[in-house]
Amino acid sequence: MPDLLRKPTLVMGARGSVGKFVLRRLLDKGVPVRASARRPRPGQFPDGVEVFAADLTDPASLVPAFDGAGQVFLYAHREGVDGVVETARAAGVERVVLLSSGSVIHPTSAGNPITREHREVEAAFADSDVPVVPIRPLVLATNALRWASEIRATGGLELYRPQAMTAPVHERDVAAVACAALTGAAASEVSGMLTGPVRLSLRGQVAAIGRALGTEIPVTELSREAALRAFSQDMSDSDAEAVVRFFDDAAAGNSPATSTVQDVLGYPPTGFDTWAADHVDDFR
Ligand SMILES: NC(=O)c1ccc[n+]([C@@H]2O[C@H](COP(=O)([O-])OP(=O)(O)OC[C@H]3O[C@@H](n4cnc5c(N)ncnc54)[C@H](OP(=O)(O)O)[C@@H]3O)[C@@H](O)[C@H]2O)c1
Repeated sequence: MPDLLRKPTLVMGARGSVGKFVLRRLLDKGVPVRASARRPRPGQFPDGVEVFAADLTDPASLVPAFDGAGQVFLYAHREGVDGVVETARAAGVERVVLLSSGSVIHPTSAGNPITREHREVEAAFADSDVPVVPIRPLVLATNALRWASEIRATGGLELYRPQAMTAPVHERDVAAVACAALTGAAASEVSGMLTGPVRLSLRGQVAAIGRALGTEIPVTELSREAALRAFSQDMSDSDAEAVVRFFDDAAAGNSPATSTVQDVLGYPPTGFDTWAADHVDDFR
């Protein structure tokens, strides 16, 4: 077992879409693991896994979970990040694998306010002497889950910029790259933008979900104003504007497919058809 893995690895957010695959993969590899959630409940994690309650916005709550941990996988939260960094340093954590965002290094979205949190959290670790390896998905396939309630309720979907092309990455591939980092791979190997295998329009992604369901899902195009109104129901106006700008950028052809997943894992990333089949029950 590599030196890094002498001590247990803590997986924070171990019930999250990415975190649960990180936990499962490390367990399959026989790596000693701990899991945390903000409010863990009995039966949420596999038997034998040591479970901690830990909240990134409350650094004092991290002390028991970090104490004795060799590596920590964690999500990017700006609130309280300086305390998180200090707690990791004081506990002697040897490596933090941070779920960040490809937008941090993407030429046309690096300045988008929606990526501010990831930029600031990366910077807080980079300015410390806690070794950090950022994992940078560009567009998670799980974004499509936001369409599920409308598809279930109406059978159709209203979309802004349905022709926008992105290469959504399966959360299992993101987790596999995070595990490569947790088991020794260097930032230079794993911190490139993570994407799926090919670019696909939003309309094409909806069609893939339709194929998984065995039905056709009609798509209606939303105007910019209507999209801003819709996004503003779940987020601040400035974040809604940032999301709309993200789709403008993708529609302008600026959301690439990269080879990072293949380079790290030695096999091609999972396609969106497979993601849709894996999640078909969410759309029923
Ligand atoms: N959407 C995209 O296209 C995209 C692109 C790049 C990067 N990202 C980043 O990817 C991440 C989303 O990953 P995901 O799909 O796995 O998310 P998810 O399924 O929503 O899970 C989020 C996890 O974070 C944990 N969490 C939330 N607040 C926390 C806190 N204060 N302290 C400790 N843990 C906390 C939750 O744990 P409990 O609730 O169990 O405590 C949960 O397990 C986000 O950080 C997002 O910014 C997204």
